[in-house]
Amino acid sequence: MKVRKAVIPAAGIGSRMLPATKSIPKEMLPLVDRPVIQYIIEEAVASGIEEILVITNRGKGPMEDYFDYYPELEARLEADKKYSYLEAVRKPADFANIFFLRQKETRGLGHAVGRARAFVGDEPFAVLLGDDIMKSKVPVTKQLIDAAEKYGASAVGTQAVSDEALSRYSSLKVEALEPKIFRVTDMVEKPKPSERFSNYAILGRYVLTPDVFDILDNLAPGFGGEIQLTDGLKKLCAVSPMVAVDFEGVRYDTGNLKGFLEATIDFALDNEETGDWLREFIKSKSQCL
Ligand code: G1P
Repeated sequence: MKVRKAVIPAAGIGSRMLPATKSIPKEMLPLVDRPVIQYIIEEAVASGIEEILVITNRGKGPMEDYFDYYPELEARLEADKKYSYLEAVRKPADFANIFFLRQKETRGLGHAVGRARAFVGDEPFAVLLGDDIMKSKVPVTKQLIDAAEKYGASAVGTQAVSDEALSRYSSLKVEALEPKIFRVTDMVEKPKPSERFSNYAILGRYVLTPDVFDILDNLAPGFGGEIQLTDGLKKLCAVSPMVAVDFEGVRYDTGNLKGFLEATIDFALDNEETGDWLREFIKSKSQCL
């Protein structure tokens, strides 16, 4: 099972990050030195993905400009001998073949992924949610692709989360196959306490087989009146094998302010240019707390 294609749903309005996202896409907010969407695309490319479809909506144009060349700016940086900026500016345009498609309606994650049918065709494909940023040694998408290949199955990324977080995410019914890999037999989106299967939630990464599209096309609205991807995967795992990978790595929900700040601090601590400086800054601040 070779996974060459990825779909990135990025059509959400970013309401949890307003007003910052009033006039720029939430995916373009800078996480230390790069926009959030770049981390997602870099993870996909590092996992062997060659073609990427970003599902967008009105107002997401700056993302398309970001992954394009900018000849005037590049000529200026070259003339000024600002070579490190020049490299940083050009790099995103060369990552992969990136396609953009508008969702046109706000009808939920399952509907957004369903728009990718023509792009995906008859191949397995990865889905990376734009809000979920991962820090890991092996890219999380690659961890899922490896498990999907090993078991000839679709795969979802998971970690155990708190009861409180579970009700904001989803809950998986799992049976252990090996350390860190489970068979998935059922799932529920935004579970009430009585509906929980386990504390394993789906966290932003999927490898899916194309038979999911027929299911998504015929899905009734679920939680919040939206077409939920989880509802589609519940049907998919009933008819074809699915595994959950308890992935190695830290996941940040950059779609809300606290998660965004956690990611900012952690990535800035890891960054060559800012790490030592930030450690000193935090030490000096903590003396005043
Ligand atoms: C989405 C998914 C949910 C998943 C969560 C975290 O929810 O529908 O199953 O657990 O992302 O990745 P959302 O954050 O869009 O409400």
